[in-house]
Amino acid sequence: MIHARITGTGSYLPERILTNQDLEKMVETSDTWIRERTGIEQRHIAEKGQLTSDLAEPAARRALEAAGKIPSDVDLLIVATTTPDRVFPSTACLLQQKLGIHGSPAFDIQAVCTGFVYALSVAEKFIKTGAARCALVIGAETLSRIVNWQDRGTCVLFADGAGAVVLEASEEPGIISTHIHADGAYESLLTTVKPGPDVDLDKLADGTAFIEMRGNEVFKIAVNTLGRIVDETVDAAGMTYADIDWLVPHQANIRIIQATSRKLDLPMERVVVTVNKHGNTSAASVPLALDTAVRDGRIKRGDTILLEAFGGGFTWGSALIRF
Ligand code: ACO
Repeated sequence: MIHARITGTGSYLPERILTNQDLEKMVETSDTWIRERTGIEQRHIAEKGQLTSDLAEPAARRALEAAGKIPSDVDLLIVATTTPDRVFPSTACLLQQKLGIHGSPAFDIQAVCTGFVYALSVAEKFIKTGAARCALVIGAETLSRIVNWQDRGTCVLFADGAGAVVLEASEEPGIISTHIHADGAYESLLTTVKPGPDVDLDKLADGTAFIEMRGNEVFKIAVNTLGRIVDETVDAAGMTYADIDWLVPHQANIRIIQATSRKLDLPMERVVVTVNKHGNTSAASVPLALDTAVRDGRIKRGDTILLEAFGGGFTWGSALIRF
């Protein structure tokens, strides 16, 4: 049986840092409110002209280097993003060109904050069926481009960045299982400006699609849904909570992360938290957190890791991994 194993991770954050103190000068908010309600202290923001594929490229190169691979080894390239460079070509094709890869399938996946887990799930199937042997799976976002910087309810949350993994065919188990879900019935709670008779043409004329979120309602559903998916994942593997060494959650809000950690009975020392420094980077958040904990030596080969995410759609998903 062919298994799919993560053999390298990488990430990249744009240099510019926006602190809570910076935001205090932009909207009516406070460092205390943002820290207490979200856990965020600062976030990275792309420079003007720096596109999603520009963040994805260094993350991808770092993951390839960690795996001991070169771009021409890649036979599948998937980019999870909500903020593509253009409507088309896909960001995956634009990244493929930057990396000098020719001929492999390359496509984007749009599942908002769950995008990386979706992409990992798809890549795993390619590898397990023998359709690919070396996949580059990336989550990359320039969410700052679709944030309404006058809306204090959302602008303090979102940020930019990229994370990547190399997934290879292996005789040893790697990805134990993935679980992905969606329910479009909740689209109105977390969305961007909708086209239609009530659309604000001024917003569309700017070429922007601002994030609109009913945060409190999203919060409650996210906590409950993530609690359910944790059970689904552990049950499917015939494991118990005690078998999990590390939780690498989507980094939306420290309170949501703490709720999942309590559910798993996993101390916060075994939970990778980057939301304080990175904010919510949507599809990039899980691979960014994974790479952070791999590079600082916390996550080691052989560890059992649970990845989970929840986002617009609603979409939600998880992956159980033997690293
Ligand atoms: N600074 C100060 N006050 C604020 C701010 C701010 N930045 N934002 C909102 N407030 C105020 C509100 O106006 C409200 O004031 P009121 O009581 O006078 O009406 C008060 O703070 C409380 O607002 P709530 O929305 O109830 O605050 P809550 O504790 O729910 O925190 C937050 C808001 C942080 C957005 C939280 O609800 C959350 O994290 N939601 C989930 C986000 C998420 O997980 N999204 C999914 C992934 S993202 C994606 O897919 C793109």
